Amino acid sequence: MVLRFLAMSLGLGTLAACQVSEMPQAQDGRGLYQANCAACHGANGKGDGPMARAMAKAPKDLTLIAVRHNNSFPKAKVMSIIDGYARSDMDGPGMPEFGVLLEGDEVPFDSGDGRQTPTPRKLVALLEYIESIQETR
Ligand code: HEC
Repeated sequence: MVLRFLAMSLGLGTLAACQVSEMPQAQDGRGLYQANCAACHGANGKGDGPMARAMAKAPKDLTLIAVRHNNSFPKAKVMSIIDGYARSDMDGPGMPEFGVLLEGDEVPFDSGDGRQTPTPRKLVALLEYIESIQETR
């Protein structure tokens, strides 16, 4: 009896854990950021990655997006930039293969218009990460 109860609560615990991990979190996007974006935007998002100096147009400081938008993070705008990267065929030395960002399952994502749009989990995770590194002023 006790065992059965234990097994049951363990089962429920696993279920709850699954639901919690359902939506991508900022920490899920961290690794994706380091692998795909840090070369230009810098390990801390400050726009000072090793490739930044070689670029005609400086990569932006990604920690100041909210500050540049009246202290609100423009989810839809940033999502469309990341989505654009993921879908473009950019090529070049040191250029990450952004297509990987579209691989995997999709999750419902509301970019601010109140509608849940199925969106690749990795894109949402990246967005969460970028939102999490915003500075406030
Ligand atoms: C090869 C270098 C490079 C890589 C890699 C790169 N970016 Fe960028 N990014 C840039 C440059 C350069 C700009 C500025 C473009 C401009 O001003 O028109 C930019 C601009 C942006 C902006 C707009 C910021 C703003 O305030 O307007 C966002 C958001 C962004 N990048 C996110 C990302 C993300 C997320 C990744 C990884 C998936 C990434 N970038 C990878 C070079 C890069």
